[in-house]
Amino acid sequence: MVKYYITTAIDYVNAAPHIGHAYEKILADVLARWKRINNYDVFFLTGTDENAQKNVQAAKETNITTKKFVDLNSKKFIDLCKKLNISNDYFIKTSEKRHFEFAQLIFKKIYDNGDIYKKKYSGLYCVGCEAFLTEKDLVDGKCPDHNKAPKLIEEENYFFKLSKYEKQILKLVSSSDFIIPEGWRNEIVNRIKNDGLKDISVSRPGVEWGIDVPIDKEHKIYVWIDALSNYISALDYPNGLKFKKYWPADAHIVGKGINWFHSVIWPALLLSAKIELPKHIWVHGYVTVDGKKISKSLGNSIDPISLVDKYSVDIVRYTLLKDIPFNQDGDFSEKSLKERNNNELANDLGNLVSRTLSLCEKFYSGKITKQKDDGLFKELDLVKINKYMDKYELHNALEEIWKFIRITNKYVNDKEPWKNAEDRELVLYNILEAIRIISILISPFIPETSDRINKQINVKIGTIKDIKFGLQKEYKVEKEGILFNKIE
Ligand code: ME8
Ligand code: MG
Repeated sequence: MVKYYITTAIDYVNAAPHIGHAYEKILADVLARWKRINNYDVFFLTGTDENAQKNVQAAKETNITTKKFVDLNSKKFIDLCKKLNISNDYFIKTSEKRHFEFAQLIFKKIYDNGDIYKKKYSGLYCVGCEAFLTEKDLVDGKCPDHNKAPKLIEEENYFFKLSKYEKQILKLVSSSDFIIPEGWRNEIVNRIKNDGLKDISVSRPGVEWGIDVPIDKEHKIYVWIDALSNYISALDYPNGLKFKKYWPADAHIVGKGINWFHSVIWPALLLSAKIELPKHIWVHGYVTVDGKKISKSLGNSIDPISLVDKYSVDIVRYTLLKDIPFNQDGDFSEKSLKERNNNELANDLGNLVSRTLSLCEKFYSGKITKQKDDGLFKELDLVKINKYMDKYELHNALEEIWKFIRITNKYVNDKEPWKNAEDRELVLYNILEAIRIISILISPFIPETSDRINKQINVKIGTIKDIKFGLQKEYKVEKEGILFNKIE
C-alpha cells in the first residue's frame, strides 16, 4: 500500500472552534477518506496549538489557570472532530511531552548547525498573529487581521538565519506543485522576489507559557516553530515507526493566512535540521459570514457544534464543501444550507433512494436478482471525478457525482418501473447498482449518509475498485426512514 500523510493546521485554543476550523477539518477529512477508498495507507493528523502567548491573556479573563483553560478549550476541538465525523488517526495536543521534546530537539539541531544566533531586536508584535509585523503590514496602525495595534517590543532574541535559505526556498516554492493552488503560490514567490528572506526571531524572553529554549531557559521557543513541529512530533521522530513510514507529509492543509509559515519558514527549518521536506502545501480560502471575515470583534462566529446539532453532520459538511470552493473564499449561510438540503440532498439523493427502495419492496418484497447492464452506468464519468479530486477541486467532484445522481433520477422517470412491468426488475437492478456506486463515491464527503444507504441496500461499503456494474448477485433491501427531511 502506498502511504499518504495528511495534516490540518493545529488550532489555537484561546477561543472556541468556529465554522472556519470546521471547514478545514472537513476538507482534510474528505481527502483522507478519498485516499483510503483508493487503497492508500493514510495517516491523518489534526490537533490543537496550546503554547501560544494569547492563551495566557485569555485564561486571565476567565479567571482560571492557563493550563486548565487550554485543556478545556482543546477538548472542544476534540468534540468538534467527533461531531463532524472527522476520521483523524490522531489528535495531537502540543502540550504532550513528546511534542516538547521534539520542538527542543529541532531547535537544538538548527542551533548546532550554526543557524541560530542572538541579537537585540525591536519590532511590532501582534499577539493575534503571534508574529512580528512590519509597518507595511498595518492598516491605520493596526493589524488588519486582528484589528488591533501591535505592541512595540524591544528584547534580545534568538534569530534563525532564514536569509541563508532564500535561494533554496525560492526554487522550492516556484515549482509547479509545492504550493497549490497557483494563486497562493504566486503570492509567496512574489513576496520572496520583492522582499527577500530576512532572519526571524525564534524565541521570546521572560514569558511564562511555552517550551523552553533548550540552550537558554530564560527564553521560550517562538510558538510558530513549536507549532509547526507538531507534524513530526506526532510521528515520534526519529525512530518511531510512524515517522519512518509516513514522513514526509504528502499534504499540509492550511488556510491562506498561514501559507507563509508553511511554505517558507517550515521548509527552511527542515532544511537546516536536515529533515526531508513535505510534498505539498494545500492552501484554502476562508469561510465568511455575510461576506465578512469571522472575528471575535464582529461577533459573527458560528458555532459548528450547535449547527450540527440543529441540522445534521452531513448537511453541514455538504454545504461547506459546496459553498466554499477550494481555492476561494465563500460565504456560509443557513439559507443556503436549507436550499442545498431541500434540493440536492432531500430531492436528488434522498428521493432516489427512497422511491427505489419502495418499489423494490412493493413489487419484489425487497429481493432483486442480478440483471443485464442497461447502459445507465456508462453515464458515470469516474475519470473526471478522479481528476477533480487530484486537483483538490472537491466542489467540482461533488457536482460531477450529483450529475450522475440526476441522470439516475431521470432514468427512473423515463423507465417508469411503477407502471412498466415487463422490464421492471431489470430497471430496479440497474438503479440499485447505481445507488451502490453512488454511495461509494459520496462516502468521503457525507459518510454517515453513505452508511445509511448501504445499510438499507444491505451491502458492505465498497471502495473505488467496486465501482463496476454487476458486482451484486442479489439485493435484499429494507427501507429505513428517509435520508433528509425538508427544512422550512
Ligand atoms: O493559525 N475560514 O490557528 P487558528 C477557513 N495555530 N479557515 C480558517 C478561518 C476561516 N474563517 N479562520 C481560520 C493558527 N482558519 C495556528 C496554526 S499550524 C502549525 C498552526 C484556518 O486557530 C486557519 O487558516 O487561527 C488555519 O489553517 C486553521 O484554521 C487554524 O487557525
Ligand atoms: Mg487565526
